Amino acid sequence: MKQIALTGLKPSGSPHIGNYLGMLKPSLELAEKFQALYFIPDYHALTTVRDRKQLADLTYQAAATWLALGLNPDEGVIYRQSDIPEVFELAWALSCFTTKGLLNRSHAYKAIVDDNIAAGREEDKNINVGLFTYPVLMAADILLFGTHFVPVGLDQQQHLEITRDVALTFNKNYGDVLTIPEAVIRKEVMTIPGIDGRKMSKSYNNVIPIFAPPDQVLKPVKRIVTDSKRPEEPKDPDECNIFAIYRHLADVDAVDAKRKLYLEGGLAYGPMKEELFALLEATFSDKRDRYNALMENLDELDKILEKGAEKARDIARPILAKVRKAVGVSL
Ligand code: TRP
Repeated sequence: MKQIALTGLKPSGSPHIGNYLGMLKPSLELAEKFQALYFIPDYHALTTVRDRKQLADLTYQAAATWLALGLNPDEGVIYRQSDIPEVFELAWALSCFTTKGLLNRSHAYKAIVDDNIAAGREEDKNINVGLFTYPVLMAADILLFGTHFVPVGLDQQQHLEITRDVALTFNKNYGDVLTIPEAVIRKEVMTIPGIDGRKMSKSYNNVIPIFAPPDQVLKPVKRIVTDSKRPEEPKDPDECNIFAIYRHLADVDAVDAKRKLYLEGGLAYGPMKEELFALLEATFSDKRDRYNALMENLDELDKILEKGAEKARDIARPILAKVRKAVGVSL
């Protein structure tokens, strides 16, 4: 049987090129070698999203993103976390093997505590227990399927370490019950710069969206920050925010030719931006159409997700049964 690779896409709105290159594209490629599972951790989002409609919408958007980008639901399995009740049962069992100290050290939790302290508030002010135990639910997402590989960004590395730690503690007590997963972090595309040169991130307001209408893609492309070198001056392509995106989308020969032009002089930023925009359109316009079509047909999306959940539960049930047997609860 193929090994399992599992990816969770947080329901946080329509994706940008940084999400695509850093995470979505490499994750989709895993379906060639592994049994790939793609899910939307909608219950994780409940730690922060309090609007019913917004949570449901964001979840659909995340599902449509995978499918529009080429996920074939007959090969990969796509599902909503909330359709798999087994996850929440396993999360409880795992929580009994997670020390509070381990969660106290979680970067995400610590960052909120630090904000509270800096603002002179009580340190746990407004931190719900769901936020605190977020890593345990994430461990359950992963361990429930006997996952071998989890492709994630660097920001999720600690969560993967927590997952492994909890699984090892569990196994130490009961024997080899849980598969110990590994994080897959692709260093070369880890950080895609946004239009201002900082890491592309919604919170920096520097993103290039992939499914937005063309004029909303062109606008940020035109605003990509460059230096003020004249066309004839030689330039370092690896210092250029336009090239940083271009090189991941164009074919190898085009990238080589462009690199030469930068180094030798003769490249003007204006036309280079236009070329990048054309490349973005060529890469994403079909996918955008498919995304929009899916978002207009939520019934179809529901059907795909329900079918995915059935397949996912078929994998999960025997693993949860092993856990129940190991700990000694009702079978
Ligand atoms: N915490 C992840 C994020 O912020 C989302 C996530 C939840 C996840 N469960 C997961 C990712 C399991 C990989 C595997 O993006």
